[in-house]
Amino acid sequence: MQAKIVTLPGDGIGPEVVAEALRVLNRVAERYGHNFTFDEQMMGGCAIDAVGNPLPDDTLAAAEQADAVLLGAVGGPKWSDPTAPVRPEQGLLKLRKHFDLFANLRPVKVYPELAQHAPLRPDLLEGVDILFVRELTSGAYFGERHEQGDGSNAWDTMFYTVDEVDRVARVAFEAARKRSGRLASIDKANVLASMRLWRRTVNDVARDYPDVQVEHVLVDACAMYLMRNPAQFDVLLAENMFGDILSDEASVLAGSLGMLPSASLGSGTFGVYEPIHGSAPDIAGKGIANPIATIMSAAMLLRYSLNLEAEANAVEAAVEAAIASGARTADIVEKGGSPVSTSAFTDLVLDGLK
Ligand code: NAD
Ligand code: IPM
Ligand code: MN
Repeated sequence: MQAKIVTLPGDGIGPEVVAEALRVLNRVAERYGHNFTFDEQMMGGCAIDAVGNPLPDDTLAAAEQADAVLLGAVGGPKWSDPTAPVRPEQGLLKLRKHFDLFANLRPVKVYPELAQHAPLRPDLLEGVDILFVRELTSGAYFGERHEQGDGSNAWDTMFYTVDEVDRVARVAFEAARKRSGRLASIDKANVLASMRLWRRTVNDVARDYPDVQVEHVLVDACAMYLMRNPAQFDVLLAENMFGDILSDEASVLAGSLGMLPSASLGSGTFGVYEPIHGSAPDIAGKGIANPIATIMSAAMLLRYSLNLEAEANAVEAAVEAAIASGARTADIVEKGGSPVSTSAFTDLVLDGLK
């Protein structure tokens, strides 16, 4: 098949991990006879430096022509002055909003080989297989009032409409139906009006899915359950900011933030695919970042935007085989073990795709 993919390497380790995912996609194209074209564009801090805009018009125009976008990460200390007029992260939010990518899928998979060395007791990780469905284009990130005040105050309004909750809830219910039939909806309905609307709407949608078992979990307790008994969860549906926070927390289950991929989807097949981690300024430029999150994001791109299920499965199996071979980047290496570099790990994934 023919496919056009825009790449947005971004800042920090973004370019390092995107380069590895591209090696994997090129190998897939070669092996399965596809024609993927890659169009690299700027977004984030690098775009602010180059043209003063974190999401230049050229980048948006290129993405509009593409079947999918593969993104690294944006941001870093250079652009993090709280008084700066423009920030790298604004580019990312604008990209998500522009394409109305309201559903962010963040699967959390635990590899048994890594569970032995994860921060949590291995017995707690048995059977953990979670899918976060994070609402991505509303909530406090996009509320009507989102502004600096007079210096002594500032606003970010938390806001949801029934339609916004309904459409992302349906994505989560559909996923639950295909998985274990269990869905936990996260909210803060005990305090926030927007979250009472969230809970009410999820209950309304639930009527269309009598085969799915729904529970409502308050976000603070959920943060605790994720560490105490993560295997109880299957699909976790959460509003924008709660989903952001809880999915980083859940990366501890997988062993590292460098492991978790994501797909940001709207109503069509176009999607933006990115690791859930950021630009990791502390390790940027060293060639030691874990490429798994980005390679697995590329696998999600193959599955959701290009409908290449066999190819996506092959990439996931190759990552699994690389882990099983014992190779570990620095973030997941066991005590006393010797880590492999970002590209050496990818070499093993490529071996698995021969
Ligand atoms: P971060 O995710 O960049 O890093 C947190 C910790 O995880 C660091 O210790 C880092 O070294 C480690 N880590 C992250 N990815 C890793 C990988 N692939 N391999 C090994 N270790 C990895 O979070 P932060 O430091 O809080 O944020 C840095 C910048 O990234 C900020 O400007 C933030 O806004 C931005 N950010 C961007 C995105 C995105 O572009 N989607 C996501 C999150 C954060
Ligand atoms: C993520 C990031 C972003 C978010 C930031 C960088 C805007 O943390 O993709 O998880 O909060 O959504
Ligand atoms: Mn995040």
